[in-house]
Amino acid sequence: MLTGLTIVITAGPTWEALDPVRGITNRSSGKMGYAIAEMAALHNAHVILISGPVCLPSPENVTRISIESAQQMYDAVHIQVTMADVFISVAAVADYRPSRVNQQKIKHQGDTLSIELVKTPDIVASVGLLEKDRPFTVGFAAETENIENYARDKLRRKGLDLIAANDVSHPALGFGSDRNDLVLYSKTDRVELGQHSKSALALRLLEEIKSRL
Ligand code: PMT
Repeated sequence: MLTGLTIVITAGPTWEALDPVRGITNRSSGKMGYAIAEMAALHNAHVILISGPVCLPSPENVTRISIESAQQMYDAVHIQVTMADVFISVAAVADYRPSRVNQQKIKHQGDTLSIELVKTPDIVASVGLLEKDRPFTVGFAAETENIENYARDKLRRKGLDLIAANDVSHPALGFGSDRNDLVLYSKTDRVELGQHSKSALALRLLEEIKSRL
């Protein structure tokens, strides 16, 4: 189904260091992104998986590039994406990082500790808004309320062709789970993929992408 296509996928969380032993991260397990990478490779795509720190084995026939921070993910994506037909941004990228990384472990002193955070680069928007060599660009929207409005806003602001929205307030779906429930939005339509295993959703998502290329 995907022969001849190069697909770049990001997956997992990012880790934004605070000092040599601490950092800011989130609950993404990488399962959704890895399921898409595995399914795309099974259907003969050339797959590059840019992954944050997760405990999953690399899928067969997939080139995996391991990174930690949002900036490292941004740099890796921009090296790979010029050769890509499709970019799928499944990673739960930290929106903010500590403004400075302490060289030594921060000592325990005082009752409160304030940390200044600064914005990280928006990776999928930097691809979606490319003027040259722009791949078909797919984002994910992890929402807990107003799902359709927020997903459509991200679709528009980040210059995406398609966005897959999931309700991450559901304890048995989304983050960490083997199952998810996805709704796709494009400028012109809405497709409910429904609640399934992440592998089954990966296949449906890839079929939708293929039909829109
Ligand atoms: O990894 P799992 O445990 O399997 O969980 C899967 C998932 C819940 C992480 C996945 O289905 C999902 O929703 N991924 C997107 C998580 C997210 O960060 O969503 P967001 O709505 O905050 O971001 C919107 C889009 O912008 C996403 O495509 C995200 O990759 C991208 N983004 C966000 C911030 C940033 N600095 N750069 C980005 O590229």
